Amino acid sequence: MTDLWSDRAQAYRASATHAAGEDLDLVVAWSEPGAGVTVLDVASGGGHVARRLRELGAHVVTVDTAPGMEPDVVAPADHLPFADASFDAVACRIAAHHFPDVLAALLEMTRVARHRVVICDNVFVSESSEEADRLRDPSHVRNYGTAEWHSFFELAGLRVAEEAFMVRETGFEDWLARTETPEDDRSRVRELLGDRVRDGRLGLPTVVLKGVKGA
Ligand SMILES: C[S@@+](CC[C@H](N)C(=O)[O-])C[C@H]1O[C@@H](n2cnc3c(N)ncnc32)[C@H](O)[C@@H]1O
Repeated sequence: MTDLWSDRAQAYRASATHAAGEDLDLVVAWSEPGAGVTVLDVASGGGHVARRLRELGAHVVTVDTAPGMEPDVVAPADHLPFADASFDAVACRIAAHHFPDVLAALLEMTRVARHRVVICDNVFVSESSEEADRLRDPSHVRNYGTAEWHSFFELAGLRVAEEAFMVRETGFEDWLARTETPEDDRSRVRELLGDRVRDGRLGLPTVVLKGVKGA
């Protein structure tokens, strides 16, 4: 294991924030899993979306750039090695803020989906929160506002059929530990995010969107 995300694989498999939550429940429900349903889980990380979908009978393929996450296919979200309309649904949870070109990735997800694309990601809060995210994790690119997500969906030709907003909570120190942020940077992150932390818990505003093709 040499790449950043492969080194983090165990931390993300074990992460309580990733293993469960209302956001995960919605991503699973809106993917409409069932026997014979095919789903592509993009940026599958510790595999929590795929596990839940498989429990409900879906045939799931996982794709991620990090070999250490042990996806079925190693590839980036903006170059998916699948034919057009290969999957009934495509899901992508808590990962788009790492993509270098989020619109290119959404276009690819839409291309390989036959019917629906479900995206869940952290929502933009402020520029100082973005600075904190980049310090905590150099692979952070950007969180987007819900209006930006709507424009990406429109550009990709997806009609927003379902949408939900929630604040996920994570232990602040666990959140810093997961990315092995150096101690000097942790102090600055604590300063930047201090007013978003209550009783040691950081609130992460999150949106879940289901887009439908051709409707
Ligand atoms: C926070 S984890 C994803 C969590 C996972 N989807 C879940 O629900 O538990 C972020 C993942 O995005 C992957 N990733 C980062 N950049 C990527 C890219 N450009 N294309 C595909 N995967 C990427 C990382 O390797 C990592 O596994």
